[in-house]
Amino acid sequence: MQVYLDNAATTPVAKEVVEVMLPILSSEFGNPSSSHLFGRKAKAILETSRRTIAQRLHCSPSEIIFTSGGTEADNMAIHSAIESLGVTHIISSEIEHHAVSHTVEYVAKGNNIVIDYIKLDSKGNIDLAHLENLLQRGHKTLVSLMHANNEIGTLLPIKRVSELCRQYNAYFHSDTVQTIGHIPIDLSDLDIDFITCAAHKLHGPKGVGFLYANKKNKTHAFVQGGSQERGLRGGTENIYGIAGMAKAVELACDHIEEHKNYVQGIKSYMIESLNALFSDMKYHGEIEPSKSLYTVLNCSFPSSENQGMLLFSLDLKGVACSGGSACTSGANMGSHVLRGINADNSRPNVRFSFSRFTTKEDIDYAVSQLRDIYKISHS
Ligand SMILES: Cc1ncc(COP(=O)(O)O)c(C=O)c1O
Repeated sequence: MQVYLDNAATTPVAKEVVEVMLPILSSEFGNPSSSHLFGRKAKAILETSRRTIAQRLHCSPSEIIFTSGGTEADNMAIHSAIESLGVTHIISSEIEHHAVSHTVEYVAKGNNIVIDYIKLDSKGNIDLAHLENLLQRGHKTLVSLMHANNEIGTLLPIKRVSELCRQYNAYFHSDTVQTIGHIPIDLSDLDIDFITCAAHKLHGPKGVGFLYANKKNKTHAFVQGGSQERGLRGGTENIYGIAGMAKAVELACDHIEEHKNYVQGIKSYMIESLNALFSDMKYHGEIEPSKSLYTVLNCSFPSSENQGMLLFSLDLKGVACSGGSACTSGANMGSHVLRGINADNSRPNVRFSFSRFTTKEDIDYAVSQLRDIYKISHS
């Protein structure tokens, strides 16, 4: 048996998404910038997709800029804030995705930008009083804080942060890669400058995403070389990917409560099963539903002799999940997120992440494999 419990890394493509993409791949090959019929048909697909996405997020279609995914969209937001909006100060956190943290470090170095890292508690919650304090410094500031952490699932009080940013005239970017299509986002109500999306996190294709850029800010081209995306991002658009993403956004947003209830049920079931199996089970990040993304569960398992082999053993037994640690050039660097919250790294940790296609049988199977690995007898 094979079970896939790594949906924060990527999700299976929904069949309805494939059905939208296949005919475009096989017949709608026009370049949307061409003025003939083939081009006009491709352009129509592009603009219909943009409208579908904008409707679901309650923003204007002109505020959606298609990109190659979440990383590019995050880069675009941060570069735009510095290069077009004149930001000289960035407030971020040590547990952002590298698409944000590495970009912030890079732009700061080259542009004499001051970076402040916000205080976090042991579950990855930001200290709002510290944020307000940092905002009072009076620089032209960008706040870049992710909506839900991809490793530990802790949610940002995004509305409160946006209100504070507005109060102190700061720009606000939130990496919403893990939350678009999973948590309702209403941009007519949430005052924010940039949010980002990667289609493959919500059952869409890989290599496509978008940046929402609030139309009240004037931004310059991020990718030079063509007038696509209103001159902001040159390059022939990935039409079938964009159409697939629009379908994925539509499916996710139109059934968001139903999916949320279902997946939260799966997560709660796994927590109950693990708590029943292990007497001292622990979790990293928030697990309370109102404070935690329901697709992510970061487990801290009891120590054992072979704990370094836990992920490998799960993989051998057909359970696909991920660790908080990334191996770079053979050196175990550890997870910057777990380091950022001072997590206990003496115990093995595994991130399980779920989708609307995950079943209770998948959870039962994963838990039974953990029982075997830990040699716990059936009572
Ligand atoms: C929070 C977050 N931001 C950004 C990204 C990068 O997205 P992409 O893989 O589309 O470049 C990811 C993907 O892992 C993510 O989880």
